[in-house]
Amino acid sequence: MSEIIRSSNTTWHQATVTRGRREVLNGHKSYILWFTGLSGAGKSTLAHALEESLHRLGCRTFVFDGDNVRHGLCGDLGFSADDRQENIRRIGEMSKLIIEAGVIALTAFISPFREDRRRVRALVAPGDFVEIYCRADLAVCERRDVKGLYQRARAGEIPDFTGISSPYEEPEQPELMVDTGSDTLAACVEQVLGYLQQTGRLPEGADIRAHALA
Ligand code: ADX
Repeated sequence: MSEIIRSSNTTWHQATVTRGRREVLNGHKSYILWFTGLSGAGKSTLAHALEESLHRLGCRTFVFDGDNVRHGLCGDLGFSADDRQENIRRIGEMSKLIIEAGVIALTAFISPFREDRRRVRALVAPGDFVEIYCRADLAVCERRDVKGLYQRARAGEIPDFTGISSPYEEPEQPELMVDTGSDTLAACVEQVLGYLQQTGRLPEGADIRAHALA
């Protein structure tokens, strides 16, 4: 379904203000930071903390958060494999627009299926998609159970729950893996910032130590 385009008789309009010009104006590149992992692994927490640091470093950013997006743009979707595929497709397309706008997109979705993540990667140019696996054991996420959903899923009240009754396919070659199950939030932020700096994705001369988590 995701490959079919039904909007016929439309013409692509080429903008004169390009992504490249916006990146120059902003003083940094744009790209997608795609956080994936189990519910409760800490994807949203890490994405927002990282956004805080990036903002302090003078970067333009925007976070898409699973639970929030499912209140609006993807409010019509449930948690079947097809609905998750459509959820990730929409977020992928949105993220693509955001990076065209010269902004760093940070996305925090379980995105449990490799194929769905691969499709988003293929939507954009090489280097634009940075997959960050937030690794935390199911037992840790279940113990945290921040939203009380694991308990309800175990009780059979929530069908197709990732990790319980629906699979999570671990990334095989993510750009980065952070141990959100055992490392501190500050350590995870530092690790991601270090990677972004090493790969030339931060403004020139950015002092990441000065803008790490307080
Ligand atoms: S995804 O699989 O399509 O990427 P998404 O990240 O948007 O999922 O939403 C996950 C959030 O929805 C979870 O953090 C949890 O709060 C809530 N949720 C509700 N039902 C489920 C379910 N069956 N499986 C996983 N998460 C669920």
